[in-house]
Amino acid sequence: MNKSKFPLDKTVLNNIIKDHEVDLNNIGIRELKRLVDNLADQYKVDFLHFEFGVPGIPADRLGPEEEIRVLTEDKKLPSTYPPFDGIPRLKKATADFVKAFINIDVEPENCIPTVGAMHGGFIAQAIAGRRFKKADTILYLDPGFPVNKLQTKFLGLKYASIDLYDYRGKILAKKLEKKLSTRKIGSVLWSSPNNPTWLCLKDEELKMIGGLLTKYDVVGIEDSAYFGMDFRFDYGVPHKPPFQPTVANYTDNYIIIISSSKMFSYAGQRIAVAIVSPKLAKKKYSNLKKYYDTKSFGHAFVHGGIYPTTAGVPQSPQHALSALFEATCQGKYDYLSKVRTYGKRANEAKKIFLNNGFELLYNKDVEEPIADGFYFTIKRKDMTGGELLHIMLLFGISGIPMRPTGTKREGIRICVSLVQQEQYGELEKRVKALNNYLTISG
Ligand SMILES: Cc1ncc(COP(=O)(O)O)c(C=O)c1O
Repeated sequence: MNKSKFPLDKTVLNNIIKDHEVDLNNIGIRELKRLVDNLADQYKVDFLHFEFGVPGIPADRLGPEEEIRVLTEDKKLPSTYPPFDGIPRLKKATADFVKAFINIDVEPENCIPTVGAMHGGFIAQAIAGRRFKKADTILYLDPGFPVNKLQTKFLGLKYASIDLYDYRGKILAKKLEKKLSTRKIGSVLWSSPNNPTWLCLKDEELKMIGGLLTKYDVVGIEDSAYFGMDFRFDYGVPHKPPFQPTVANYTDNYIIIISSSKMFSYAGQRIAVAIVSPKLAKKKYSNLKKYYDTKSFGHAFVHGGIYPTTAGVPQSPQHALSALFEATCQGKYDYLSKVRTYGKRANEAKKIFLNNGFELLYNKDVEEPIADGFYFTIKRKDMTGGELLHIMLLFGISGIPMRPTGTKREGIRICVSLVQQEQYGELEKRVKALNNYLTISG
């Protein structure tokens, strides 16, 4: 790799940006990929890809081997439609998994496989946001995963936001109550650990969120795309505390979504599970009838949500996820020991940025420093996310701007999954050169 190539030519980059008709402050991941590929091609340089939020470690053989086994042994499997609400094995494995790792009691019938967390989030919003005519707004604890907001739009629902940078602890409760008391909110959606900041909601916060969800009959959608991955705690021992904190301890108005994508690096097989609270599943809302031919929340989720969207989830990935949950519950497979590597990478990468004039954008988790995980966010003086991305691209580093994630704070999300630690020497060289360049040019 030829380091003298950096910085790349600003005019060339500007022309590419013009050709692609993109705004770096708001650029989406696919457009950014096209732009980076174009630049990398022209200059024959390898970019350090911090933009993709995709798994960076291979899946354990357990999953694929189970898929092959079931497809080989059961000749009828490919020609048989899956049950809409999931195969019994996965429903039971999920109920056992949530008992072992979050210590809540649900029945297999409350555990519904979806085609990734994306699908679960889509249906959860569709049902939760249509229970009452007036309560058609999804309230996000932001910043968040931009695709969920596209789903809100797609569904014709409204979107509201609370930025977790400004509201944590008791003041989050106050702000949330103000919003929920308008009775316009159908659901509150969050991820914890959070994409893109890696903020993790505290148990006390979940307690007060849960209390308010019950008080105003609002549904909490807890997107656990990074289940157990707050590496400050060991959430990986079955049936032993500490358990991953969940709002389910404090309200019956919850849907928890657990994705296989990051915890088991199983993103390609598109499988997650939605755990619909047993009490919520039984509740009836007359407004649901118009959309789903039923008033019952649980029935609407499966027959009004899963059936018309995907008519179920392919069966072999359901078996794979069952096998992974079963092995994890039996203590035979320690997924956390594998994904911990993301925390180590984040720790190193942060040091490199912080030693060279960058700051963390979301730097505090209430009173503590933000934990090391899959993502972190950076900023530099008063540069916008787009300006910062522009200069990073000139030095062969990509990340995504924060604006589309629902924050007014300017910066860049760094995802550490794809850049291997062997590449950190190169990262350091580029970040140092970038820092010198900006220092000299004032
Ligand atoms: C917060 C969050 N939710 C959901 C997803 C998507 O998960 P899945 O691959 O299971 O659809 C992601 C992926 O990046 C995410 O960050």
